[in-house]
Amino acid sequence: MKYNSLLLIGAPGSGKGTQGKILGTIPGFFHFSSGDLFRSVDAQSLIGKTFFEYSSKGLLVPDEITVELFNSYIEKMITEKRFRPKVDYLVLDGLPRNVRQWHILSDKVDVHYVYHLYCSDRSILEARLKGRAASDHRMDDNEEVIKKRFEVYEKETKPLLNLFSPERLIEIDCSVLPYQVLREILKPLP
Ligand code: AP5
Repeated sequence: MKYNSLLLIGAPGSGKGTQGKILGTIPGFFHFSSGDLFRSVDAQSLIGKTFFEYSSKGLLVPDEITVELFNSYIEKMITEKRFRPKVDYLVLDGLPRNVRQWHILSDKVDVHYVYHLYCSDRSILEARLKGRAASDHRMDDNEEVIKKRFEVYEKETKPLLNLFSPERLIEIDCSVLPYQVLREILKPLP
């Protein structure tokens, strides 16, 4: 059985995590954030060290490690009945992150809608990330790494948008208030 999924795609700071977290509080939605999952891993473990090596440079962690971590986490969530595939939408935030990851995952997830959180003014997103850096102390929120993360998004993640049919692709201007973005995300759902 494929997981009924909603996919959030957007540049760093576009609000994928913000929206995913809100949705995750609503019964019927299960939020999966690959970034949060990586950040929760023991920093001394092999995965933790690999995550540090790549994310501190603004690069993507190798696909195999990422997908394996997703699989084992989702299986655990199903076993613990926190994610109920028959009734919940799986809200994917940060995965897939490139075309290869999509090809590996596509036999597991059935994407109902892809939400492209776009912003025509990148300085808005940069300001958000700088604002978050002051409170969250993420190792990848310094200026040089942020620049790299935007490059990686353009080169590796954005091409994913071409893989989905226009009926499934919802374009949302993410420069507005979070509740206004949320309203657009919920609109097409039955
Ligand atoms: P990840 O954690 O996924 O980082 P990201 O995609 O760059 O996303 P961000 O968390 O920076 O931004 P966001 O869009 O979630 O915005 P947020 O809601 O937080 O990945 C980190 C690293 O992990 C990667 O670089 C990579 O190394 C590794 N990784 C993760 N997934 C991987 C994968 N699949 N494959 C390989 N490697 C992977 O909002 C940001 C700020 O803006 C917040 O302060 C928020 O309050 C504010 N904000 C949000 N929305 C609004 C709004 N509408 N108005 C005003 N403020 C807002």
